[in-house]
Amino acid sequence: MLIEVDDVTHVYDDGGRGRTVLEDLTLRADEHRIGVVGANGSGKSTFARLLNGLVLPTAGAVRVDGLDTADDGRAVRRRVGFCFTDPDAQIVMPTVREDVAFGLRRRGLTRDEVDERVDAMLEEHGLSAHADHPAHLLSGGQKQLLALASVLVTGPDLLVMDEPTTLLDLRNAARVAETVARLPLQVVLVTHHLDLLAGFDRVLVFDEGRLVHDGAPDAAVGHYRALMAALP
Ligand SMILES: Nc1ncnc2c1ncn2[C@@H]1O[C@H](COP(=O)(O)OP(=O)(O)O)[C@@H](O)[C@H]1O
Ligand SMILES: [Mg+2]
Repeated sequence: MLIEVDDVTHVYDDGGRGRTVLEDLTLRADEHRIGVVGANGSGKSTFARLLNGLVLPTAGAVRVDGLDTADDGRAVRRRVGFCFTDPDAQIVMPTVREDVAFGLRRRGLTRDEVDERVDAMLEEHGLSAHADHPAHLLSGGQKQLLALASVLVTGPDLLVMDEPTTLLDLRNAARVAETVARLPLQVVLVTHHLDLLAGFDRVLVFDEGRLVHDGAPDAAVGHYRALMAALP
C-alpha cells in the first residue's frame, strides 16, 4: 500500500507548552520492508502512530492506500495493524486463545470459523500448546508473538511495529525477528536492533523530528551511527 505523508508537523500539547516532535515531514513509501531508526525522542513512535491514525497530525495530512487518517480512521485501522514495544499494552484478554479471538469479534463469523482462524494463528506462532493458558504467564517473547498473532488474525495489509524486540532477550528477539522476516505483508519497523534491517528495501533516519536520511539499509545505518558518534 502507498503511504503518503504530506507536510506533516506534529505538536504535542504537553501541558500547554506545545512540543513540536515532527516538522515538515513529506514522504511517499510503498516498499515492502521499511525501517525507521533514530535516537530516543527523535519522533519515531509519533511517526509510527501517524500511520494508523493513533496520532493525528497537527498540520498536514497522512494517507494510507488513499485514505486520510483524520477522515477515515476506522478504515485505516482495518488495513494497518500496530504492534507496540510492550506486549502487555496490547494483550487485552485473559487467555491466549481469547486474546487472538478478540480481534475477530463483530465480523459476523461463526464460532467454528473463529476457532479455525485462531487455531491457525496460534499454530503459526508456536503458541498452540499455550492456547488456554493465562496470557500473563507467557514469556516476554511469547507475549510479543501473541500480540503479533492478535494483530495478524485481523488481516491487515500493513503492519507497523514500534520497537517490537527492545524488551526481549536475544533469543526471543531473534524469534520475533524471524517471524517478521517471514511475514508476507508490508512492514514498517521502528527498531534499535539494526541487524534486523538487513535486506530491507528502505530505511528512514529521524533526528530531532526531522527525516535526515532516506535510503538503503547500509547507508542509512551508517548515517545513523555517524549522527550518534557526533553527539557530545
Ligand atoms: N503524548 C505526549 N505528550 C507530550 N510529549 C510527548 C508525547 N509523546 C511523545 N512526546 C515527546 O515527543 C518526543 C518524540 O517522541 P517519540 O515520537 O516517542 O520519539 P521516539 O519514539 O523516537 O523516542 C519526545 O521528546 C517525547 O518526550
Ligand atoms: Mg519510540
